[in-house]
Amino acid sequence: LKNIKVALLGSGTVGTGVYKLIERQREELPHKVGAGLTVSKVLVRDKNKKREGIDPSVLTDQWEDIITDDEIQIVVEVMGGIEPARTYITEALQAGKNVVTANKDLMAVHGGELLDIASHNGCDLLFEASVAGGIPIIRPLKQCLAGNYISEAMGIVNGTTNFILTKMTHEGMEFDEALALATELGYAEADPTADIEGYDAGRKMAIMASIAFNSRVTFDDVYTEGITNITAKDIKYAEAMGCTIKLLGVAKNTESGIEVRVHPMLIPSDHPLATVNDSFNAVFVHGDAVDDAMFYGRGAGEFPTASAVMGDIIDVARNIQFYCTGRIHCTCYKDLPIKKITE
Ligand code: NDP
Ligand code: HSE
Repeated sequence: LKNIKVALLGSGTVGTGVYKLIERQREELPHKVGAGLTVSKVLVRDKNKKREGIDPSVLTDQWEDIITDDEIQIVVEVMGGIEPARTYITEALQAGKNVVTANKDLMAVHGGELLDIASHNGCDLLFEASVAGGIPIIRPLKQCLAGNYISEAMGIVNGTTNFILTKMTHEGMEFDEALALATELGYAEADPTADIEGYDAGRKMAIMASIAFNSRVTFDDVYTEGITNITAKDIKYAEAMGCTIKLLGVAKNTESGIEVRVHPMLIPSDHPLATVNDSFNAVFVHGDAVDDAMFYGRGAGEFPTASAVMGDIIDVARNIQFYCTGRIHCTCYKDLPIKKITE
């Protein structure tokens, strides 16, 4: 049986989940892929850190060990941040390796350029986990809903802020305590500023708008406002009005251009989005043929995110096994105008 070699860049919350899922699926993979999958290297900053469940012999702190290993066919980037992730992904694609990433910071800014590099090198670059964690949304938009003209995609796309707002609303918890708990549970980014200021949701909305509207939208095009100014008093006033405060992302494809924004909104407490609690996310999409479609599930955390990464790895592995690449990331798009929102 053929064995496809995988390298993980990072073994934090998501990387560890992916490693464990590959182990858990060991018996199943040959039936799903027609080949086995082995994690042959894991890139980390600190090789001496104790890592439960990970074979220490695969750990390396040298990118050279991975990029020069011709047997590695899939590189899974779960380190986060722009650099060195951008350089490593570029070099991996240029070396003919397929890449799976969960990195929305990177894809929201440099996604277009990286997809072009993937395409030029006949490789896959998949990024399902970069939006809404475990919820399938990139692939449904790119493939299943491709027959639609999509006019709107909106919803809750950040688990940390939804967790904080839920705890403040339903348990009277203080903001800082709820943020600390979200960090402990592995939902928050390494620097949670991106979560609480709405940047993380803004990045996801840029990626989602690009795919939904078949255009290219970057984080710079998105208006963002976070939840740092929401107080217990605001939550009480909202409740008194029969409403709930949620951090929503809204992307619209209008006749005058694409507009994308993220900010806290008051929604009626009986609205379906008001019942999306804790780290759960939900995305509504409107297409001219399908009408309304809703996607709901866990938007952050070790296994939900690893689930999305693993789906991409299996997809790439099948492409390798059956000699077909470049299936999903097709780089055709329309250069639509963007309407900049300032407040
Ligand atoms: P963590 O901070 O938990 O883990 C990051 C890992 O990357 C660590 O193992 C770290 O090594 C390694 N790393 C970071 N920088 C370098 C570097 N320069 N060289 C080598 N190794 C490096 O992050 P997460 O697992 O939470 O997130 C990973 C990615 O997934 C991010 O892009 C994040 O935005 C995205 N994501 C996260 C979700 C979540 O719920 N956590 C959900 C969806 C996406 P060391 O262990 O030695 O420090
Ligand atoms: N920090 C992110 C969140 C992780 O809370 O949604 C998932 O992308």
